[in-house]
Amino acid sequence: MHIFLQIGPLEEYLNSCREDDRTIALVPTMGGLHEGHLKLVEKAKACSDLVVVSIFVNPTQFAENEDFKAYPKTLSEDKKFLEAVKVDAMFTPSDNQIYPDGSSQDYDVGEMGKILCGISRPIHFNGVAQVVARLFDIVKPDYAVFGEKDYQQLLIIKSLVERQGIKTTIVSIPTVRELDGLAMSTRNNYLSSEDRTYAPLFYQQLDATKSAIQSGVDISTAIEQAIDALSAIFDVEYIEVLNANNLTQITTSSSEIIIISAVRLGETRLIDNIVFRRSYV
Ligand code: PAJ
Repeated sequence: MHIFLQIGPLEEYLNSCREDDRTIALVPTMGGLHEGHLKLVEKAKACSDLVVVSIFVNPTQFAENEDFKAYPKTLSEDKKFLEAVKVDAMFTPSDNQIYPDGSSQDYDVGEMGKILCGISRPIHFNGVAQVVARLFDIVKPDYAVFGEKDYQQLLIIKSLVERQGIKTTIVSIPTVRELDGLAMSTRNNYLSSEDRTYAPLFYQQLDATKSAIQSGVDISTAIEQAIDALSAIFDVEYIEVLNANNLTQITTSSSEIIIISAVRLGETRLIDNIVFRRSYV
């Protein structure tokens, strides 16, 4: 596996691959890699000849009071993990490779950046858009692979690519879960062993809400029931049932719907969602 810390050598390598007509897929990550990231790599391999994984804990997507400093940094394990799945190149830039002027462009992430996670994390999606646009500019991938676990992030990146005319195809994979249903996440490492036993109840409740809606319970009642049940264990930040294509309110014509939620368990913030086709309004 090639390891790049600097943009120049990475660009040289990618240019020579392009000259050989090899297609490139990028998997952007912040490290602390787990099985979910592995599935992204598998998808990237299926899309293209060559896979680049970036590992960069992006400071601009964390607010002052968030976990930037505590974010798990497991570079040597991550490297072994990527070698084992035969990734072609790992890109681990420093802050000044990504943000050479110390600052970065502002992105209008639109209305979609202001709802759901954007309410408690108002600068978050702007930071995500900055770093993803910068990584796309460096790697110029034919494909970039993202997880549906971060569903709002995925839609924001798709709209960024569309608005900026970026020639990268965005590909996504479904959420990868632990056997008990908990969505895999680097932040699950923050859970105490006691909290880890409660955490799967989050997904179990989303699944129960899906069943309720599918069996005809009206959406506002289903949400109320979900808030009541979740509140016994979690601090509920939000739970909403929306049109999965654009995260707007459901209308009679919305067929794909999403139950999307963020909760806190102790100090740990968990997000999850379920997308499904409904049979009842
Ligand atoms: P990170 O949390 O490291 O996630 C990297 C990618 O892995 C994202 O596309 C995320 O959606 C995906 N992912 C994480 N857990 C997953 C799971 N359980 N199942 C499926 N996919 C999963 O998301 C970020 O980093 C950053 O915001 C980033 C896009 C890299 C920009 O800094």
